Amino acid sequence: MSLLDKVYEFTQADEVRALGHYPYFRIISSEQDTEVIVNGRKMLMMGSNSYLGLTNHPRVKEAAIRAITKYGSGCAGSRFLNGTLDIHIELEAALAKLVGKDASLAFATGYQSNLGAIQSMVNRNEYIVTDKLDHASIIDGCQLSQGKMVRFAHNNLEDLERVLKSIEGKNSLIVVDGIFSMEGDISPVLGICELAEKYGSYVMVDEAHSLGVLHKTGAGAAMDAGCSNRVELIMGTFSKSLASVGGFVAGSYKVIDYMKHKARSLIFSASLPPASAASVLEAVKIMEEEPERIERLWENTNFMMENFKNMGFNTGTSCTPVIPLHVGAIDNAFKMWKMLDEEGVFINPVVPPAVPPNDTLIRTSFMATHTRDQLTEALEKFEKIGKRIGII
Ligand SMILES: Cc1ncc(COP(=O)(O)O)c(C=O)c1O
Repeated sequence: MSLLDKVYEFTQADEVRALGHYPYFRIISSEQDTEVIVNGRKMLMMGSNSYLGLTNHPRVKEAAIRAITKYGSGCAGSRFLNGTLDIHIELEAALAKLVGKDASLAFATGYQSNLGAIQSMVNRNEYIVTDKLDHASIIDGCQLSQGKMVRFAHNNLEDLERVLKSIEGKNSLIVVDGIFSMEGDISPVLGICELAEKYGSYVMVDEAHSLGVLHKTGAGAAMDAGCSNRVELIMGTFSKSLASVGGFVAGSYKVIDYMKHKARSLIFSASLPPASAASVLEAVKIMEEEPERIERLWENTNFMMENFKNMGFNTGTSCTPVIPLHVGAIDNAFKMWKMLDEEGVFINPVVPPAVPPNDTLIRTSFMATHTRDQLTEALEKFEKIGKRIGII
């Protein structure tokens, strides 16, 4: 057996490419906006995570350009040694304030934020309690830590209590997504905090999809549930509402200071580039100054949800701008993706192993900046294709 055998035995991607159904690594040659250019063709973007539509906001772009002019293109080192800029510190203060914590720490990606937070906080013989549908970066953080991972059924407080009882007396951290990235439902953060307090555990909320979406300030699921002060750690990404790339973890001064000296994905990796730090700072300012963006995001979400439901689509448990259409067998997902693609609608098919084989998804997600005309045009296409495939 050679190291490369597995490489040559991996034929699935080629098989799907041969059928003309390959939906991954599509090449976009425009800004991330409500319309994008893919292979020279204009498409309606119904699958972006730029919930507030800020990635191409003139102020965000100008802030990035100013930062490059002042600081150059990169920091050439890690935060720990030679890569901490004054705008990192300014950004961390703004983010801590946004989510109602004393301090925060910016990482180069959201993925690294979860790795660093979980690895630094949980040691051997301690436990990480995760929702079964938590994001892969949380699972990878568990693997990097020496702790033991135990899972509870999705959004199920009874099952969480069963798990907490089974590890009573042991140190543990409960980690959940604020909004689940595929299902589009919201974690019951308040109930989780109550159980954590009852069993002496701590809570960390990954606000990747809930920042800029939940609470009138965009502060996320913990703030929206009125319990950010009972959550020990709040993690967020810059790659969705905050219009760039990177991530952060917020908490008490003491915890964040500890993390600064223990999180391997922070210490052994180069720091967030200046342009990203400046873009996020500007995006946070715009979010504060223009709360109507969040209102518009919800108007668009409610419009799409209501119409999808009236047409007979199964939107599962979603109640947020992430609206999955449950389309059944994998063939339906690829067919629907292809037909929507031909009609000029960009969506994301979600197939096994991310979901069970007979519960594949067409993941749609909406932005504050979608116009009613764009949404209506897309809905007509969804309906036509849904009927043709026979799922509505
Ligand atoms: C819930 C969740 N957490 C963390 C991440 C990782 O964030 P990033 O892509 O910004 O590295 C993602 C991104 O897809 C996510 O959906």
